[in-house]
Amino acid sequence: MTQTMETELPCWPPVNSARGPFTPLDDAERQRYVGPVTRVLLPTGATAWLVSRHTDVRQLLRHPAFSSDLQRPGFPLLRPLPPEVAMNNQGAFIRMDGAAHSRLRRMLTAEFMIKNVRRIEPLIHRTVDEALADLATAGSPADLVSTFALPLPSKVICHLLGVPYADHDFFQSRSRLLLNREVPPEQFQHAAQELRDYLGALIDTKQAHPDEADDLLSRLIRERVAPGELGIDELVGMTLLLLIAGHETTANMIGLSVLLLTRHPEQYAILRERPELAAGMVDELLRYLSIVRTGLFRLATEDVEIGGQLIRAGEGAIVLISLANRDTEVFDDPDEFDPYRQAHQHLAFGFGMHQCIGQPLARAELRIALVELARRFPDLRVTADPQELSTRDSSIVFGLDTLPVTW
Ligand code: HEM
Repeated sequence: MTQTMETELPCWPPVNSARGPFTPLDDAERQRYVGPVTRVLLPTGATAWLVSRHTDVRQLLRHPAFSSDLQRPGFPLLRPLPPEVAMNNQGAFIRMDGAAHSRLRRMLTAEFMIKNVRRIEPLIHRTVDEALADLATAGSPADLVSTFALPLPSKVICHLLGVPYADHDFFQSRSRLLLNREVPPEQFQHAAQELRDYLGALIDTKQAHPDEADDLLSRLIRERVAPGELGIDELVGMTLLLLIAGHETTANMIGLSVLLLTRHPEQYAILRERPELAAGMVDELLRYLSIVRTGLFRLATEDVEIGGQLIRAGEGAIVLISLANRDTEVFDDPDEFDPYRQAHQHLAFGFGMHQCIGQPLARAELRIALVELARRFPDLRVTADPQELSTRDSSIVFGLDTLPVTW
């Protein structure tokens, strides 16, 4: 079945919802959005195909004819792209296709494999311990985002990459700007350039002392840059991608997860009483919260039929993984958060060639952070109504600005 009606691009979870951040889809929304591939109007005035059913999303994301390269003419965008940004995209393999993409991704796959992430679990534990000690010192009431949710993944990714955590105010604020779809193009461009300059200078310093450190950047310099396999601009772009993706997403997941779980103290208590269930709970949190809420953007490079709809070469597609994660064909009662659900089919980390490379790390951080928090702060409570909390409404990654807690 095909549909030609154009609706506005939905954003899920919704922005500024008076119903709070955990709004279930109502029947009309479910009918309108979680269904056949349909045409939507983008804020730029262009149209694209909205893909929201779990099966269609998987089919599209693993199809090699769908490009992630936003420099291609006709690529669907939420805001006009300044030409300088389009040109200065080197190394950002999330925006590359085919062999160019896999060449760079392959240089990192071993680093983020489950067995390597197991090796850094002691580091995650130490970082969680430190952050929880800071929380205790800050005293009740405290802001969980700035004392715990944000420092934890920021410190871990800094340690892995070899970026000084002391510069966190700088890179966190610039990352937030880059993820904000309402930031004017000049400001976006400026923030991107500042981060590139910062990382370029850091890489210069490391290159001058190549044998001194065992962090990922130093290793890539020794093993890939020195033999001429990887350019400096490419390394800057890869590092920028890892630094941003490595802290914003996980931080937002921690904040929202704590808000959700503490609303149901018996669910929060499961983390403490049955920590062996925490890994499964993390998957259900990823499914239910689906923080990458504006979806994944692709351009068809050939005519392809997805879910019965012909998407022609040159047409854009918006893949709303947040809606696919509430598809009743795959998940019973998808608007319910069920801590015992086997939610591993969720698509919160994407699917196919670009599926999140950092997912073993994100999963480990979330599991350790939530279990330890529940163990040491069993009586943690959020002191504001969910509707009153300041949410990242214009960000492509949903999250909370602050989370006031007491214990
Ligand atoms: C809960 C936390 C996270 C979520 C929800 C998440 C989500 C995603 C999603 C949906 C994609 C697919 C993008 C696409 O197909 O266009 C992706 C890709 C990516 N993520 Fe994550 N991510 C998380 C944590 C991380 C972490 C901790 C890192 C860093 C180590 C990371 C690094 C990346 C990279 C480098 C890509 C691009 C992969 C590629 O294009 O081949 N992510 N992530």
